[in-house]
Amino acid sequence: MDYIVTDATTLDGDRVDIEIRGGEIDRILPAGAGDPDAFDRSRQHDAGGRLVTPPLTEPHLHLDATLTAGDPRWNDPGTLAEGIRIWAEYKESLEKEDVKARATQAVEWLAAHGITRVRTHADTTEETLTGVEALLELREEVSDLVDLQVVAFPQDGIFTRSHHEDLLQEAVEMGCDLVGGIPHNEHTREDGVSSVETAMDLAERYDRPADLHIDETDDPGSRFTEVLASEALKRGLGDRVTASHTTAMHSYPNAYADKLISLLAESGVSVVTNPPDNSVLQGRYDDYPRRRGHTRIDELHDAGVTVGIGHDSVMDPWYHYGVGDQLDAAFVLLHYAHMNGRGDVGTLWRMLTEANAAVFGADDYGLDEGNEGSLVVYDSPDPFNALRTRAARTVVVREGRVVAETEPGETVIRRSEGSRRVDFHR
Ligand code: FE2
Repeated sequence: MDYIVTDATTLDGDRVDIEIRGGEIDRILPAGAGDPDAFDRSRQHDAGGRLVTPPLTEPHLHLDATLTAGDPRWNDPGTLAEGIRIWAEYKESLEKEDVKARATQAVEWLAAHGITRVRTHADTTEETLTGVEALLELREEVSDLVDLQVVAFPQDGIFTRSHHEDLLQEAVEMGCDLVGGIPHNEHTREDGVSSVETAMDLAERYDRPADLHIDETDDPGSRFTEVLASEALKRGLGDRVTASHTTAMHSYPNAYADKLISLLAESGVSVVTNPPDNSVLQGRYDDYPRRRGHTRIDELHDAGVTVGIGHDSVMDPWYHYGVGDQLDAAFVLLHYAHMNGRGDVGTLWRMLTEANAAVFGADDYGLDEGNEGSLVVYDSPDPFNALRTRAARTVVVREGRVVAETEPGETVIRRSEGSRRVDFHR
């Protein structure tokens, strides 16, 4: 598919025309040097100097639970454990069509916000594996919008019930793309260690990457990320392994955190932080002062670890809010991780684009000639203002095909001297 975007501003500040032919980026030229006449009028977009980026990636979501917030009840205690209990009630009578309808709506929201790759976890401790089956079918059904990866995720633990290990393996055999785990949710430290080893064994046996929920707690005694990184290092699988959440790292003693981060860097394991959820789920057992449970983004970056930004939830028992906009997740992170300096803007965008795509394992990614012909135009002149306003994605192009368009909202201020249109650009 062919498409041309003219006069767009890249994350590096270059004004360019981008010509897509046959679904790939054919030419990137200085603005004005492209050839829009070579494209059908319906396949042209004049960005008018607005920001353009490669497409966004959602590296961590739970599409089986999405859009269930309030059903059967709201999570007013606000804890991770209460969210798991509410989900356990919901999944007792999980129906495939219900999962698919909710997940499809969420995927459409994500695509509207420029996301063309999604990694979702699917609960394998729901005994009929209805959610797994639904999301595997959905993977094909939404393939016109996104590349969907499904993680076989043992929400209630691998060893907490005798048949959970078999269910996990069955989900992998059904076709899940990755193997998951949740060692901090096992009954004992020893079971947690074994669960990491089991997940990695499955990943090796079935030739799948692994993405484990790990140390998602404020307990500084929860130390399973070291086990995952060590296993990945020993098996030479670091670039195929993701450590999701790792919020306990926030509470580790500095000497231990330093050792762990060095190990993560050596292993090549990536980390995904999920700011919306963990900004509200963590610190729930604290009196004042209350910790803000998130992983150590700055120290991980200093060590060279790839850190992605995920949503985790869009309107589910763990997080009631969200519209599927990755920029919201970055906006939350910049506040509670103290990433509000001017120099952090570039870091946040690199996390949203390059890091998330690397976690996903995307190849031919990025605005370079020969790569996939995919891009997002924002109703904003630059990366800072796009983040500040969570600017509308005016057009989302995937391999040369428009998959979403948004008309930016219009606000009119009515003063005594007259009315005028205002925007929030600066
Ligand atoms: Fe999660």
